[in-house]
Formats: sequence, C-alpha cells, structure tokens
Amino acid sequence: MSSIRGIGLAGSGKQKIEWVKRNCPLLTSLKEEFEQTQPFKGVKIALSVHMEAKTAYLCLVLKAGGAEVYATGSNPLSTQDDVAAALVEEGIEVFAWYNCTEEEYFANIRAVLEHDCNIIIDDGGDLVHMLHTEMKDKVQYVTGGCEETTTGIIRLKAMAAEDKLLFPMVMVNEADCKHFFDNRYGTGQSVFDGINRTTNLIIAGKNIVIAGYGWCGKGCAMRAKGLGGKVIITEVNPVKAIEAVMDGFEVMPMKEAAKIGDFFITVTGCTDVITEEDFAEMKDGAILANAGHFDVEVDVAWLRANAVNTMEMRKNIMGYQQKDGRWLYVLADGRLVNLAAGDGHPAEIMDMSFAIQALSAKYLVEHGKELTEKLIKVPEEVDREVADRKLAFLGKQIDTLTEKQREYLESSSL
Ligand SMILES: NC(=O)c1ccc[n+]([C@@H]2O[C@H](COP(=O)([O-])OP(=O)(O)OC[C@H]3O[C@@H](n4cnc5c(N)ncnc54)[C@H](O)[C@@H]3O)[C@@H](O)[C@H]2O)c1
Repeated sequence: MSSIRGIGLAGSGKQKIEWVKRNCPLLTSLKEEFEQTQPFKGVKIALSVHMEAKTAYLCLVLKAGGAEVYATGSNPLSTQDDVAAALVEEGIEVFAWYNCTEEEYFANIRAVLEHDCNIIIDDGGDLVHMLHTEMKDKVQYVTGGCEETTTGIIRLKAMAAEDKLLFPMVMVNEADCKHFFDNRYGTGQSVFDGINRTTNLIIAGKNIVIAGYGWCGKGCAMRAKGLGGKVIITEVNPVKAIEAVMDGFEVMPMKEAAKIGDFFITVTGCTDVITEEDFAEMKDGAILANAGHFDVEVDVAWLRANAVNTMEMRKNIMGYQQKDGRWLYVLADGRLVNLAAGDGHPAEIMDMSFAIQALSAKYLVEHGKELTEKLIKVPEEVDREVADRKLAFLGKQIDTLTEKQREYLESSSL
C-alpha cells in the first residue's frame, strides 16, 4: 500500500507529467517500444529518485514495459506530493512525501525493498546501502541496479574496492549522454532557476562563488557568467583549477572567496566545504546554496546551533544572524537547491538521462545474470543509441565516415 501525502493532490501532478511527456520524445519512443516488447514483464523495479515529474515519467515508461514499480524519494525535500499522488493513480506504489523526517525517509526506502525487487534504480546510493546493511536478506532477489549520480558512484566504487558490492551496478552517471548534458547543462540551468525563483534577486554584477569545477560546477559557472555574475571558483584539484582560469574565471581558496562572495554555490560531492571559519569572513546578506548530492557541503548544523537569531525570510530562505549582527541566508536547508527549491533539470535533459536508465535496466534484465564484474559501464551501444535518437529528435543530421575514412582512422600506419 502506497504511503503519500494525499491522493487528492493528483490533478496538478498529472498535468506536470503530461508536460514532461510532451517534451521527452526519447522516453516516449521507448515507452511505445516497451509496450510492444514487454522487456520488464514479471520484473519488480525499485526506484529511489527525486520524486518529481521527470522521474514519474520514467516510472511510467518502466511500467509500460511490464514492470511492477515501487518508488520512493532520494531526498526528503525533493518529493512533489502532487506528482507522487498522480503516480499512485497510475498504479505505481509510492512511498514518499515532501519534508519527511530522516526516520520516515529511511522507513520509505525499507517499504520499497520489502517488495523483493529485482532491479534497483538508485540516485545517491541510499537504496543500495540499505540492501547491504539492514536488508541484506533482500539481496537474493536483486539481479542488478543502475546508479544515477556522481556521489552514488563514489559510494559504489568504495564498496567495490573493498569487495563488498553484492550485485552488478551500472554507472549511469559515467555515460557520455548523462554527465555531459545532465550534470553540466541540466545543473547549470536548474540551479539558477532554483536560486532565482527563491530569492528574486539579481545575479548581474554580483560575486558568485562556485565550489567545485567538475561537470556540475562548469555548468553553474557558465550560467552565472551568462547572467552577468562575476564568477569565482574554489577547487582542490589543480587541473580543474587551471581549466577554470583558462575559462576566464577567478580562482582562489574558499577563505579568500568567503570575504567577497554575494552568492555561494557548493557542488563538490565533498563535505565541510563551507564551515565556521568561512562564515566568520562573509559579508552581511551573503546567500548560501548547495547543489551537491548531500546536505553536508555547507555546515548548516553549525549555523543552526550558533545563530543568535533565525528567521524564515521567504519559502526556502532561512536567515541566521551571527553574534556580530550579520545575517547569512541559506537556501533550501543546504539541500540540492535545484530540486528542493525548484523543479530540477529541464525535461529535455532528463529525456536523455532517463533513456539511459531505462535501456540500462533492460540490459540488466537481459544480461544481469551473466555479468561477472560488479561495476558496469553503460554499454557503448546504449550511449550511441541515445545520442542518435536525440539528434534525430533535435532535427539535426551529421556526416557519416566513408569506408576509406574509417580505414584511415583505424590504421596503425598513418
Ligand atoms: N544538483 C543536481 O541536480 C546534481 C546533478 C548531478 C550531480 N550532482 C551532484 O553534484 C556533485 C558534483 O558532481 P559532479 O558530477 O560535478 O562531480 P565531479 O567529480 O565532476 O566534480 C566535483 C569537483 O569538486 C571538486 N572538489 C572536491 N572537493 C572539493 C572541495 N572541498 N572544495 C572545492 N572543490 C572540491 C573536485 O576536485 C571536482 O573537480 C555530486 O554530489 C553529484 O552527485 C547534483
């Protein structure tokens, strides 16, 4: 039995999913194909995902392919209750609601796994972690799984290195058609959508400090610059730092950037990126947002514990007054700002990411039992198929190698 905020909310959830459907031609073409071929007939799929309209559509695509689908959130603040209700009306079991407590969040993950699922679709690694700890008895039903994001892959790699990973996991994030577009263009746009709609403040002319110049950081920097912001990058990797310099951005340590930043965006996948010493340097009115997977990048717990005064300024903006009178503002409690205070990535981007998820899940159903490795790359043909189909939907054509060109490129005697 599903556990959601209220089935009565389904109306607007359905509208959101319909809009996504109209803007995800790749997923729609897969849905039509799956309706005919039924690749997931008799398969139970567990998903822990940001429960909003694009992931909802992924659930419906899997269901159209014959799957029994059980879904929960991957972050206590990213579930949209109307979308969860709409999914339940479509016959999917959902265990998620907005602003659940940490305890409820993990209880919902347990509720999904109680259904003895065969394929796991995880975003950040909480579902897989639960299967390897409290609910190990459910591993016997699992053929394999797919991981959506960088942080989840880091956790999987650590488990595989210790030989603790109990079933094959496809690293969806590593696919070209995922991180090139989702992490860079998706995060870049949706982070500023979240910040702009939440704060209603100008970016132009402000100092925008971005911690981390990986795929997501590059996307945020590109969009901050486009909005007229003066971009400052903080990094721990010298190669990425050089890249940021050559892309035209200022690079400096966080303790320097802290003094001049107007907006701070952390997107590192690391912990303690902005802490007490940095808060002490910040200007009155500085705004802090996180776009990394977990809420550990900005030390919000320290602010909560040490503020002399707190005030909710607007929805998703909490003000923390420091002893010297300065106010620092944290967006969405330091959780993923684009999802907790926005609608997440644009639909056309998730069309590609979720096509890879759906095709990787199909690959696991077909080949999971033969796989000997635990960490599986997205098969090249899946990446290629998604790129070919997306390009066709974009109405673009490209050249094809001639036989002579192919031979030239493959020859050792150039
Ligand atoms: N908000 C979203 O919708 C969204 C989308 C995709 C990924 N993510 C998450 O964003 C995070 C980053 O993902 P990515 O794909 O950009 O990873 P990435 O590995 O490409 O980049 C991370 C960068 O952060 C740098 N870094 C690490 N620790 C740092 C520190 N203490 N200070 C400064 N820089 C530091 C690394 O050197 C690296 O360049 C992950 O947690 C990922 O799961 C979020």
